Amino acid sequence: MSWKYKAVYFEIAGICNAKCAYCHSGVDRPARARFVDVDVFRQALTRLLAEQVITKGAVISLYNWGEPVLHPRLPALAGVINELGLKYAISTNASRVPAIDRVFVANLDHVIFSMPGFSQEAYDRIHGFQFTEILGNIDRIVTQCREHGFTGRFAISYHVYKFNTAEIKPCERFADERGIELNPYFAILNNWWEINDYVTGKLSAERRQVAQRDLFTLDEIDRIMAAAPKQGYRCPQGDYLNIDELGNVVTCCQVARDHPDYACGHVVRGDLQAALHRKLRQPVCGGCINSGLAYYLNTALQRPPFYSPSLRQRALQMRKIVRRVADEGFWPLAAKAVQKGLAARPRSRPAPGKTATTSPASS
Ligand SMILES: C[S@@+](CC[C@H](N)C(=O)[O-])C[C@H]1O[C@@H](n2cnc3c(N)ncnc32)[C@H](O)[C@@H]1O
Ligand code: SF4
Ligand code: SF4
Repeated sequence: MSWKYKAVYFEIAGICNAKCAYCHSGVDRPARARFVDVDVFRQALTRLLAEQVITKGAVISLYNWGEPVLHPRLPALAGVINELGLKYAISTNASRVPAIDRVFVANLDHVIFSMPGFSQEAYDRIHGFQFTEILGNIDRIVTQCREHGFTGRFAISYHVYKFNTAEIKPCERFADERGIELNPYFAILNNWWEINDYVTGKLSAERRQVAQRDLFTLDEIDRIMAAAPKQGYRCPQGDYLNIDELGNVVTCCQVARDHPDYACGHVVRGDLQAALHRKLRQPVCGGCINSGLAYYLNTALQRPPFYSPSLRQRALQMRKIVRRVADEGFWPLAAKAVQKGLAARPRSRPAPGKTATTSPASS
């Protein structure tokens, strides 16, 4: 069988400058920043195209666990994407404004701004940045991209914590005024070791208490994992290809770098098809599915039922759907919607639009 992916997450910067308390990268820092080499990036994408693992026009998301805008040669990477006829997306904490020109926007598909709330207090608790600087940077990125002819989507991924629900509407007003989509969804404990320790009761009492204080997604975790489909469950991570900044084909966007089953091969060296075959057949996956954790991780990023979008946001969502229908066709999208409905979690909260792991929150 040959493997084909529509969604690829290519980590270009294996480091982040934020201090997000519930993201692995905000807590653990590698000793040295590791950025993807431009030649490795080109070789990897060229091989994926040559082996038809991806096709021209595929969207390559340039992040997984790091901050893509820190890459010192981001314009060169955008140039490679353009040369190869691919598209790309970034998700950024907006702490830096990249150099934006026609090359940068030529094949840019969409930009996501991750926000931990809409106040300095929220930024002090999670990202550790100056809130007003972030707002200024978002404005500069949006304005400069549009000035260079970009007509695609901007979206704010608003991480909903128990302490920032009152800030969703102010953030929505900011987004409405700029034509940015607002995508609020519950924040998770985005750290493989911590979530495993949490479910096995090994997380320290202090950390457990703090996490329960902040995260809605821990409230029902035991019930959700116990009721999760296990036998025959197909982890949705199989639909995403994750590659790290060294070219490793990564099991999924959750398994930590220092886990023995972190990678299943290399995108440039060795047998690529064999590496893709091993993905989802990694020893770690059996335990993850059988415990219900895989199901939990893949369905936790839900939109809060108490969020009611403004008219402007409804219009932006409608525009997104129209664009997707134009890109993908009506019937494939309808089939996906039916599949999603069938796979919906049996729970009291109404299901939101996007439910997947952290990376796929982009679409
Ligand atoms: C780990 S981040 C890396 C990219 C970039 N640094 C950023 O924050 O957008 C990848 C994705 O995970 C999401 N994410 C990060 N921490 C999260 C959390 N605790 N809960 C839910 N989503 C989270 C972000 O919104 C982002 O789209
Ligand atoms: S969520 Fe993004 S900005 Fe925050 S620490 Fe993780 S990688 Fe960095
Ligand atoms: S089963 Fe768990 S470890 Fe395996 S790909 Fe899915 S989420 Fe990742």
